[in-house]
Amino acid sequence: MLYDAVKPFLFKLDAERVHEEMSGLMALAAPVPGAEKVLSILTGSGGKGLSKSVFGVNFPNPVGLAAGFDKDGKLISVLPGLGFGFLEIGSVTLEPQPGNAKPRLFRLVGEGAVINRLGFNSEGARAVALRLSMSPPPSVPLGINLGLNKGTDAKDAPKKYAQTFKLLRKFGDYFVVNVSSPNTPGLRDLQTATNLADILSTLQDANPDHKPVLVKLSPDLADADLTACVASAAKSAQGFVVSNTTIQHEGEPGGLSGRPLKVRATELLRKVRAMTALPLIGVGGIATPEDAKERLDAGADLIQLYTGLVYGGPSTIKRITRGLS
Ligand SMILES: Cc1cc2nc3c(=O)[nH]c(=O)nc-3n(C[C@H](O)[C@H](O)[C@H](O)COP(=O)(O)O)c2cc1C
Repeated sequence: MLYDAVKPFLFKLDAERVHEEMSGLMALAAPVPGAEKVLSILTGSGGKGLSKSVFGVNFPNPVGLAAGFDKDGKLISVLPGLGFGFLEIGSVTLEPQPGNAKPRLFRLVGEGAVINRLGFNSEGARAVALRLSMSPPPSVPLGINLGLNKGTDAKDAPKKYAQTFKLLRKFGDYFVVNVSSPNTPGLRDLQTATNLADILSTLQDANPDHKPVLVKLSPDLADADLTACVASAAKSAQGFVVSNTTIQHEGEPGGLSGRPLKVRATELLRKVRAMTALPLIGVGGIATPEDAKERLDAGADLIQLYTGLVYGGPSTIKRITRGLS
């Protein structure tokens, strides 16, 4: 209710600035003992009896934070207080980079959607690794999403993903190879059978602990490309994240997320489910308990959201887990 009252004011301000101010407040609270607990009390009770084990990791509930919200892993000690069953940080690139010119994040309020063209603003893998090494592990499983620096040559992609992974591997419970963000030129071209096979084999050579590695897919893949890509990746990945944002929309260039992505992301999940028995994380347009149930029924083992949180506020996750219970 409080969020509904402040939302009209927040939505008058620049979208990225609001995200930064909110994240800044949470980051300030992060080192304070008990901050997670306070956030948890403020956002009420979540659902019970939802724990499950997926790719060998135990999740207290299946509703996670999607990549892009906490790119540098600054909030992992407080965000579980919102009721998440897991967090995915990133995308993290090997070298630090600022991302695209601002403004680069836009709300489509009437549609419950966001368009972003952030372009992997990242502190880089060494800085993120240092931060993670200094903070206790979060109270829920942690996924780390791996991106590529702008201008990386396709032939260097396997090596760069593997180097990024090596710096971060001891901190994550699972990893995601992001070959589907629309805001890094050439990145999505890596979603071919041969490119993915190269990337995954190089990464698995650097993975002696057998941490689960998932591939995040674009909703804009043509059916034939999707089939080839899933068949190839399924040989050496432990699952898929379905899906990233879509470029098929009007208005500002960038990736569209939120409500208009829901049907498309659900369809893609059903298609991928029909192709593989591997674990799937369903993401795209989930905002309500009904959306969550629909995605799990469509074959997702776990689900994530980002844009639903922008519109629904900090109680969104617990509303969803209560509904699922
Ligand atoms: C502002 C913003 C930044 C994002 N950054 C990333 C990212 O760095 N890496 C990634 O894999 N996905 C990123 N995403 C995509 C989300 O993880 C998710 O796949 C997509 O937004 C669909 O989910 P949603 O409709 O619940 O937002 C970003 C999304 C938004 C809105």
